[in-house]
Amino acid sequence: MAPSFFSGTILGLAGHVASQALSGTPAAASSCAARFSWETTQLTDAAIASTGASGKDLFAFGTDSPVTALKPPAACKLFPGDSLWPAKPIWNLFNATLGGALIQTVPLAAPCYSNWPGVTNPAMCQYVTDHWSDPHLHVEDPTSAMFPLFQGRTCLPPSLGFPHNDTCTLGGYAAYSVAVIKVSQIQLALNFARNANIRLVVKNTGHDFADKSIGAGSLSVWTHKLKDIKFYSDYRCRSYKGPAFKLGAGVVTEEVYQAAEQNGVTVVGGECRTVGLAGGYVAGGGHSPMATLVGMGADQVLSLEVVLPSGKFITASKDTYPDLYWALRGGGGSTYGVVTSVTIKAYPKIPVTTMTFGFATSPTLSADTFWSGMRAYMTYFDAFTAAGAYGYFLVGAFAPGNFFFQFMPFWGGNMTSSQLTTLVTPFLNDLQALGIPVTPNITQYDSLYKAFNGTFPPEAVGSPSGHAASRLFPRENFISPSKLNATVAAVRYVIEQGGFLVGYNIRPKPNPGQDNAVNPAWRNSTGFFILAGAAVPDNGTDAQIAAASEVLTNDWMARWRAVSPGGGSYMAEGDINEPNFQTSFYGAENYPKLYALKQKYDPTGLFYAPTAVGSEDWYITGQIPYFPTQNGRLCRRT
Ligand SMILES: Cc1cc2nc3c(=O)[nH]c(=O)nc-3n(C[C@H](O)[C@H](O)[C@H](O)COP(=O)(O)OP(=O)(O)OC[C@H]3O[C@@H](n4cnc5c(N)ncnc54)[C@H](O)[C@@H]3O)c2cc1C
Ligand SMILES: *[C@@H]1O[C@H](CO)[C@@H](O)[C@H](O)[C@H]1NC(C)=O
Ligand SMILES: *[C@@H]1O[C@H](CO)[C@@H](O)[C@H](O)[C@H]1NC(C)=O
Ligand SMILES: *[C@@H]1O[C@H](CO)[C@@H](O)[C@H](O)[C@H]1NC(C)=O
Ligand SMILES: *[C@@H]1O[C@H](CO)[C@@H](O)[C@H](O)[C@H]1NC(C)=O
Ligand SMILES: *[C@@H]1O[C@H](CO)[C@@H](O)[C@H](O)[C@H]1NC(C)=O
Ligand SMILES: *[C@@H]1O[C@H](CO)[C@@H](O)[C@H](O)[C@H]1NC(C)=O
Ligand SMILES: *[C@@H]1O[C@H](CO)[C@@H](O)[C@H](O)[C@H]1NC(C)=O
Ligand SMILES: *[C@@H]1O[C@H](CO)[C@@H](O)[C@H](O)[C@H]1NC(C)=O
Repeated sequence: MAPSFFSGTILGLAGHVASQALSGTPAAASSCAARFSWETTQLTDAAIASTGASGKDLFAFGTDSPVTALKPPAACKLFPGDSLWPAKPIWNLFNATLGGALIQTVPLAAPCYSNWPGVTNPAMCQYVTDHWSDPHLHVEDPTSAMFPLFQGRTCLPPSLGFPHNDTCTLGGYAAYSVAVIKVSQIQLALNFARNANIRLVVKNTGHDFADKSIGAGSLSVWTHKLKDIKFYSDYRCRSYKGPAFKLGAGVVTEEVYQAAEQNGVTVVGGECRTVGLAGGYVAGGGHSPMATLVGMGADQVLSLEVVLPSGKFITASKDTYPDLYWALRGGGGSTYGVVTSVTIKAYPKIPVTTMTFGFATSPTLSADTFWSGMRAYMTYFDAFTAAGAYGYFLVGAFAPGNFFFQFMPFWGGNMTSSQLTTLVTPFLNDLQALGIPVTPNITQYDSLYKAFNGTFPPEAVGSPSGHAASRLFPRENFISPSKLNATVAAVRYVIEQGGFLVGYNIRPKPNPGQDNAVNPAWRNSTGFFILAGAAVPDNGTDAQIAAASEVLTNDWMARWRAVSPGGGSYMAEGDINEPNFQTSFYGAENYPKLYALKQKYDPTGLFYAPTAVGSEDWYITGQIPYFPTQNGRLCRRT
């Protein structure tokens, strides 16, 4: 690509293109659920030709041809400031073809900094500071993600005491984003990024634990505005007959739960209100309070609409692109294309009974007794999940040698309060026998939404030192007494060292939809434990962060891995430094197949995210070991 290509005098063109709507052709409906209206207008070669000579090269579709047929790939993606980086007129042309949907990044906390003239705004700064830990704030922003560590901490709200300079810079945030509202804009963005050799990211909510939705010097496809929800009370497609939802890529959990409530059905979603159900949730596997009754989130997916790396728009289902249908359900986000909508199964409305209680060490409750109580709970993991229950709990130390446990809640899906009471009575008796007094609050609700709204607390995000890892513990760990003891000892060790555990007693029920790429380690697991790293002060230095992260990965998690052979980790709530991530996050049996599909559908490496399939072929420049950020240039390993 000649340098002149990007600095050509095409200013006039932008206005020309803006005045004409890019025409499209109605897409052939190949899925059983009709496409949303914004999915029916696609980018065409004729529309691309209408953008003139420069546009023709910039917006041309790619091919699905094997990588060997392509010219040698560039070593690195372009970066702002490079001579080949598109000049402003090119961005204007791009914006015009997008209908004005291009946004130049202003970091969320920029209003707090004087080096953003016109943006600096004390009132806005106060608002951002006050709401920094509320996920909604980051969900509503085109480029912010919830783990500032991996952005590089270059623009945090100063008065929170986070480390900061007097200036705010983009760090790992995208350079530009496209607030997409239709498929043709996604096609334009993918074609543009691929042809111009610019890094591409896909941002939905920014929930991923490794900040997989951001990247320095990138163009971001922001899927947030794709909010359509369509309910089918009696969906009939292929072998499925029953209720279903078609969801736009930007729909979040609380919206789907509300829609299910209004329509008298139940859907599989997570516990967090703002996770993007059709985005990273389904792509990563998706765990749910419903999983013990009906399987993983990805198991519910009947079909997906996807813009491929080539720019082509397709339906992935059992019949069309079955290889991608397999990979897109569990093989990870930002890898094989941009999903625009998914169609998922729904289930009849069910009653839900929740139970909450906690216990903690005290002058009359020793640390050893506390851990006997933890062990007692874990002896019931298999029985509880076999009965369809799910447990969500926290374990931590409030002072050295002093521990607490709290249900957030224990969840009895499809259970009345008397059924739940019968199920948990032996466990409560065991706690009593150990001398652990508890006061369970058992509440019955008539639907998932009411139970979710009534018992799941809103979650806090955005901690500038937040770094977590996770482990899927096989069922065997809670059945074999010696393995159980080793598991309890490994958990106790990390809590004593200052770790914080977010635990789930969960075992996905086999589901006919599970012929997908969900990490096979999920299928045999009964405990999913997330471990937050050592308490580095919020103003911790890079060296302190790196040291704490190394301890998390190579000491704490190493102990968990050692006691759970055959287990794995959950990619969407995983350690960015996870050793041998291919096996841990995807499974040894699935990874080669996922990698081959990556080469097949994305031969130029348009999509990249840390720990995504194929990410081992790339690196980010200027990184500190054990403190990887997205604040650098993306280059291909040679
Ligand atoms: C507080 C909190 C609670 C959570 N609770 C749960 C839970 O209960 N159950 C659970 O399973 N997980 C949970 N997660 C993890 C969550 O599933 C992942 O973070 C998930 O990746 C979020 O997806 P997203 O689309 O909302 O977010 P993003 O971070 O925006 O996206 C995640 C990844 O998917 C890609 N992506 C997003 N949309 C698309 C798309 N349309 N097409 C292609 N790629 C896309 C992104 O590029 C990125 O790589 C939680 C996370 C947090 C921080
Ligand atoms: C894109 O165009 C819209 C509408 O004209 C404008 O508001 C916006 O600022 C433009 N974006 C960029 C990055 O120039
Ligand atoms: C502050 O600036 C210095 C020097 O440019 C840089 O090394 C450091 O990483 C910056 N810190 C933050 C928190 O941005
Ligand atoms: C809930 O229980 C009823 C009655 O036992 C059963 O028919 C139904 O399949 C269950 N639903 C789910 C989602 O497990
Ligand atoms: C039990 O939990 C419910 C739901 O959170 C709450 O409304 C109720 O006040 C609690 N009861 C007691 C006695 O704490
Ligand atoms: C959700 O919870 C809030 C506060 O706990 C309550 O005011 C509201 O009525 C609940 N909504 C539903 C539909 O249960
Ligand atoms: C496991 O620990 C319990 C109590 O902590 C003990 O009674 C039991 O003997 C141990 N079992 C094995 C197999 O080590
Ligand atoms: C799951 O368990 C089954 C039966 O115990 C075993 O055959 C299979 O290999 C296990 N799978 C994984 C991924 O560990
Ligand atoms: C972080 O803050 C604490 C308490 O305010 C202070 O003692 C410490 O020196 C600070 N550390 C750094 C690296 O600034």
